[in-house]
Amino acid sequence: MKLLFAILAVAIHGIIPEPAFIQVNKGSCEVKDNIVCTIDKTSGIAEEGYVLKVDRRKIRIKASTPAGIFYAKQTLKQLEQDGRVPCVRIVDAPRFAWRGFMVDPCRHFLSVEDLKKQIDVLAKYKINVMHWHLTDDQGWRIEIKKYPRLTEVGAWRTEFDGSVHGGYYTQDEIREVVSYAAERFITVVPEIEMPGHAISAIRAYPWLSCTGEALKTFYIWGTPDISLCVGDDRIFSFLEDVIAEVVELFPSEYIHIGGDECRKNRWETCPKCQARIQSEGLVSDERGTAVEKLQSYAVHRMEGILAKYGRKLIGWDEILEGGLTPGATVMSWRGEAGGIKAALEGHEVVMTPGKDGLYLDHYQGDPKIEPVTIGGMTTLEKVYNYDPVPAELSRNGKGSLVKGVQCNNWSEYMYTNAKREYMMFPRAFAVAEIAWTAPGKKDFESFCRRVDAACQDLDARGMNYHIPLPEQPGGSCDRIALIDRATLSFTTTRPMKMVYTLDGSTPTASSAEYVKPLEFTEDAVLKIASVTSYGKLSPVRTITIDKQEPLPAMKDVFEGIRARRADGRFYNARELEGAEWRPIELESFKDITKLEPFNRNLPDSTRFYAVEAEACFSVDGTDVYRFSSDCDRVWIDGLLVIDNSEEEAKRFSRHDVELALSEGGHSVRVLYIFNIRGGWNPLRNKTEVMIRRKGNSQYITTN
Ligand code: ACM
Ligand code: ZN
Repeated sequence: MKLLFAILAVAIHGIIPEPAFIQVNKGSCEVKDNIVCTIDKTSGIAEEGYVLKVDRRKIRIKASTPAGIFYAKQTLKQLEQDGRVPCVRIVDAPRFAWRGFMVDPCRHFLSVEDLKKQIDVLAKYKINVMHWHLTDDQGWRIEIKKYPRLTEVGAWRTEFDGSVHGGYYTQDEIREVVSYAAERFITVVPEIEMPGHAISAIRAYPWLSCTGEALKTFYIWGTPDISLCVGDDRIFSFLEDVIAEVVELFPSEYIHIGGDECRKNRWETCPKCQARIQSEGLVSDERGTAVEKLQSYAVHRMEGILAKYGRKLIGWDEILEGGLTPGATVMSWRGEAGGIKAALEGHEVVMTPGKDGLYLDHYQGDPKIEPVTIGGMTTLEKVYNYDPVPAELSRNGKGSLVKGVQCNNWSEYMYTNAKREYMMFPRAFAVAEIAWTAPGKKDFESFCRRVDAACQDLDARGMNYHIPLPEQPGGSCDRIALIDRATLSFTTTRPMKMVYTLDGSTPTASSAEYVKPLEFTEDAVLKIASVTSYGKLSPVRTITIDKQEPLPAMKDVFEGIRARRADGRFYNARELEGAEWRPIELESFKDITKLEPFNRNLPDSTRFYAVEAEACFSVDGTDVYRFSSDCDRVWIDGLLVIDNSEEEAKRFSRHDVELALSEGGHSVRVLYIFNIRGGWNPLRNKTEVMIRRKGNSQYITTN
């Protein structure tokens, strides 16, 4: 019995996803020259499923498709140790036909080589769809021979700092990726975005928009209110020409037409769009507004174009607005509601709801210490716990219309390939498991052990991944203050050993283990990291603990705000040297972002600026206070305590700090720069400074 368990442990070690059935027998078999594969279409084995039998002499694989053989071989590779596999019988088949990952090369381009690395890893875990988001506001990434300016012009953008970002895939490169993926049983589904998210195309060919105005390729994130002019038939000729080249490159049954986040305000005033609304008799009613129906009209026409080439349409859940076209498949991203509605109407759906854990651009740990992301919170466990079939669909007998599940790796904040991999892994492994494995077979603890094996494989491939960091409950902070004592406790987003040092040295796997809260009564430098089961450390956090005399209360507290403004394009605080400042009136720190109108299109006429503002605040007891701010810099009582000005993107309050303050008045000064770093427009930031007393969870804000 003991031996059986030992073998079982070996057998399931490293298998992602968990197979449907596994029986482990005594002994093992040498892999070399011992594999017999049979494809039998009449075997009754599910498509992509397989039966793998290993006895002491032979390894037999049976499947009804070549994909099934491929997946059996992936399982076999994961069972193999030193050239041998244990004797097993595995009967396995996927839960879903669509097991996808979406790659976004538009916000940040990635090379064919880096794409192939992702394909290699994900094929191993039985992912079978790569949704390739090839066009967006920030870049057009697919060569279209008939419209060369799409890539000559639309594939490049000039960032705020003057650097140029871009790139595109030639048709030869696309063929190469498609066939590389196909060899690994991954279908590449291209996405050509319409009628929104098309600024890069409009930049190349301005007649594609309602106004025909000249534009830049977008260098900020978000949704502009400039879309394709669907009142103009030239748009559909353009899209048809593009699709004609796309279908030559992609054998996929499905073509993704986007359809999400299309702002329709320009259609309201465009004579061509209004004429189309008239001629098509589109009226606002309970099914949607006239412009929503105009979008639905455009999606219908896309469906017709695709049908000419024998292809099916898939789009984001906004394609439901104004009425869904009959044969469309819906990709549900704004929660599950769109997918549920579509399936109840009889449409197939792919579940990829952001808030339920399928957006891998969300945070996977405490935003205070993780690299900047678009927001949200999606731990590995949250992804793992997601069930793509909503109860409402099961109750209504429509569960089978859930074709599958997909994670989306939007790349706004993925400035490097290392960051992209950090955000993808290991969460993409959880997606692989929920896509393949029946819910009853799932077990998070066992999954975490298997994740460790999969991450070691990433190490061997030179790929990056996330290891949970030690986090402080209630908000991590690297600069701790104490008057008498401070207690620091740590946790991780999944169970991990933590190690630390107090002598300034970098911790190793054998440093002191963190087992209970640490008490401090003097200055200290704490270095703490998590350790995986295979001895690899997370990034090390360095936390300074500073015993402080409380800063004295101010004698000359003043009312109101003293503020000044400098106009210009300042990329960072250093560039403000020699700036021309002029005094301005401000009623509140909140108004710092209101000095120029917020325009989501960020036109060339935008006036960038910097503001310094100072005010007084009062604390009602001598104690330690924590400060948090999205501004570039913050000074308390004249001391520079927060500096975010060199951050990749100024979001989510980096560099929180604690200070000991005496009861009474103190001054707070901020520097705020309206510039664009890393694509984020900080006119959307909160500019109050958040202050909370130690032990209080609620922040108070400066005025
Ligand atoms: C999306 O995330 N806009 C589909
Ligand atoms: Zn128009």
